[in-house]
Amino acid sequence: MPQPDPRSNPTETLLIQNAVRSRWRSGPGSLEALASEWPEGATRAVVIADRRAWQAWGAEVAGTLSRIVAMPDVIGVAPGERSKHPAVWIRLVQALLRAGADRTTVVVAVGGGVTTDLAGFAAGTCLRGLPVILVPTTLVGQVDAALGGKTALDLPEGKNLVGAFHWPVAVVSDPRFLGTLPRRHVRNGLAEMVKAGLVGDPGLLAVLDRDAKRLAAGRPPDAETVHRAARVKWDILGQDPYEHGLRRVLNLGHTAGHAIEAASRFRVTHGEAVAAGLVVAARVAVRLTGFQRSEADSLGDRLRRLGLPDTPQVPFDAARPFLARDKKARQGCIRMALPRSPGVMEPGDGDWTVPVDESLLLECWHGVA
Ligand SMILES: NC(=O)c1ccc[n+]([C@@H]2O[C@H](COP(=O)([O-])OP(=O)(O)OC[C@H]3O[C@@H](n4cnc5c(N)ncnc54)[C@H](O)[C@@H]3O)[C@@H](O)[C@H]2O)c1
Ligand SMILES: [Zn+2]
Repeated sequence: MPQPDPRSNPTETLLIQNAVRSRWRSGPGSLEALASEWPEGATRAVVIADRRAWQAWGAEVAGTLSRIVAMPDVIGVAPGERSKHPAVWIRLVQALLRAGADRTTVVVAVGGGVTTDLAGFAAGTCLRGLPVILVPTTLVGQVDAALGGKTALDLPEGKNLVGAFHWPVAVVSDPRFLGTLPRRHVRNGLAEMVKAGLVGDPGLLAVLDRDAKRLAAGRPPDAETVHRAARVKWDILGQDPYEHGLRRVLNLGHTAGHAIEAASRFRVTHGEAVAAGLVVAARVAVRLTGFQRSEADSLGDRLRRLGLPDTPQVPFDAARPFLARDKKARQGCIRMALPRSPGVMEPGDGDWTVPVDESLLLECWHGVA
């Protein structure tokens, strides 16, 4: 057999420099500082805003933007997870084009995780990518969703199954926005903060325990505590921006959580589902990583004191199809991010997840650790 001449099909490698730069500003006065985050050469803005957030804060955001660029068009998004739908995404891209968006336009997303996930995807796919600045107005958005470049849409098959990385030029988290959040959505954010504490900052759990009464009543945490929770994610992003390994630890509570959310047809909110998902993960961890049973118990107590659920809101059978489609699953095998102890995650075989038998997950769903 004649050997193929390797010179006839040479392979060349292009080394893509990691030129992505994403900034994060949080704390009082962040909104006013938006001008200093504005990309050079960008002369226009189009706002994509959650209608409720815009009602509460539109005048302030528009006032800040009008000091930077000409008054932008504002495209409204209906509140709620159902807006993360492909039909809404297409509508947004068309609205961006009709508003005359071009490469000198910055998309400014104002709202919670639904809006920043959706607007981020619209910005990332319109004209192959427009720069986006995220202005998260919910606690979930400020401690988690707006950081990290992930954008997403939901499908009937499950949550966040369409999406891409599109890093925001900047994230501007101003604590004042949290002042108008309904109690249920403050609690949602608390679930992500408990996750952050378990993943990398046990001292944060002590702060949440100390302030539980106020927080459960719907008073948002102070700016410093919000920053501290977001910092856990930010530090991990610096080490693994594209989730090749370590970043998977941030999925703690989300394997069961996403399945609960989808199986409930989004009647259970993201934070409520994640709270229950954390409890399931802790019970699995008791069996697989040496996580202390007493820690799993105190996690349940903590969530209850924060006004959050500590038990899955849907039966295991309803969640099962969604669990199998979890993005961490491999060859149909469920894999979960699990803690070893508060603040220390299980590295597994280096991919920071652990394979979990369906039968064990079923037992832990029903409360046996
Ligand atoms: N991309 C990521 O890395 C990431 C991480 C975590 C969560 N998420 C996604 O985030 C979404 C959940 O985000 P969320 O909890 O922010 O929900 P959300 O965006 O639905 O907002 C919650 C509610 O608060 C209202 N709202 C927003 N800002 C307000 C304000 N300042 N005052 C009064 N009301 C206000 C909204 O109208 C909505 O009804 C989920 O889709 C989840 O998948 C994404
Ligand atoms: Zn989450």
